[in-house]
Amino acid sequence: MNKVYSIAIDGPAGAGKSTMARRAAAELNFVYVDTGAIYRTVAYAVIKRGILPEETEKIDALLPELRVKLAWKDGVQHTYLGGADVSKKIRLPEVSSMASKVSALPSVRAFLLDTQRNVAKSNSVIMDGRDIGTVVLPNADVKIYLSASAEVRAKRRLLELQEQGRSDTYEDVLKDMIERDYRDMHREIAPLKQADDAVLLDTSELSLEESIEAILRIIREKLGL
Ligand code: DC
Repeated sequence: MNKVYSIAIDGPAGAGKSTMARRAAAELNFVYVDTGAIYRTVAYAVIKRGILPEETEKIDALLPELRVKLAWKDGVQHTYLGGADVSKKIRLPEVSSMASKVSALPSVRAFLLDTQRNVAKSNSVIMDGRDIGTVVLPNADVKIYLSASAEVRAKRRLLELQEQGRSDTYEDVLKDMIERDYRDMHREIAPLKQADDAVLLDTSELSLEESIEAILRIIREKLGL
């Protein structure tokens, strides 16, 4: 069997993890795994049931009913909730905010752990999230901590939202991002932080192409590819 490699990319919201990781994975012929999508799927189910983020007992009771699955079509990840493809619906800002809240619950993190680890068992992956290098894949072959200033990240996210036809303001996006970072970094379980053995890459001053090149350089150097 060919050796499978695992690459962990962590960092705050809007650091460009998903775009860069997807492109780097395509270049290396690895599977790109967006773990935020599964937290978003749980958040989407919570919103759909009308449950509030502080109603943790109701969320715990809901988890065993949820069938969250990842699948890939032509290299693109699709996320399923009970057989329905929810990949688009989970991208709304209200789902982002709820995902950041429900992902602080230990029960939710435990519920989603195997889904993430199982993909990496049989495939070479580039997996992005908040705790991939620290918790999900602590033995990853390469760990990268991707960051950029909050202002740069908010501008990038605003562009994405505008492309989707939304009219959010820069101020709203920045405020939401700072709140989400704070929650993700300060939760008790699996907070967002740079793993001791992760390479820090700040992309504030880099273009998308330069960032992807830098990521590929780090990976190829470490793996000797
Ligand atoms: O990467 P994203 O913006 O799609 O993630 C949505 C939320 O999910 C994020 O605010 C925190 C949470 N998350 C997490 O706690 N751990 C991960 N590995 C990925 C995402």
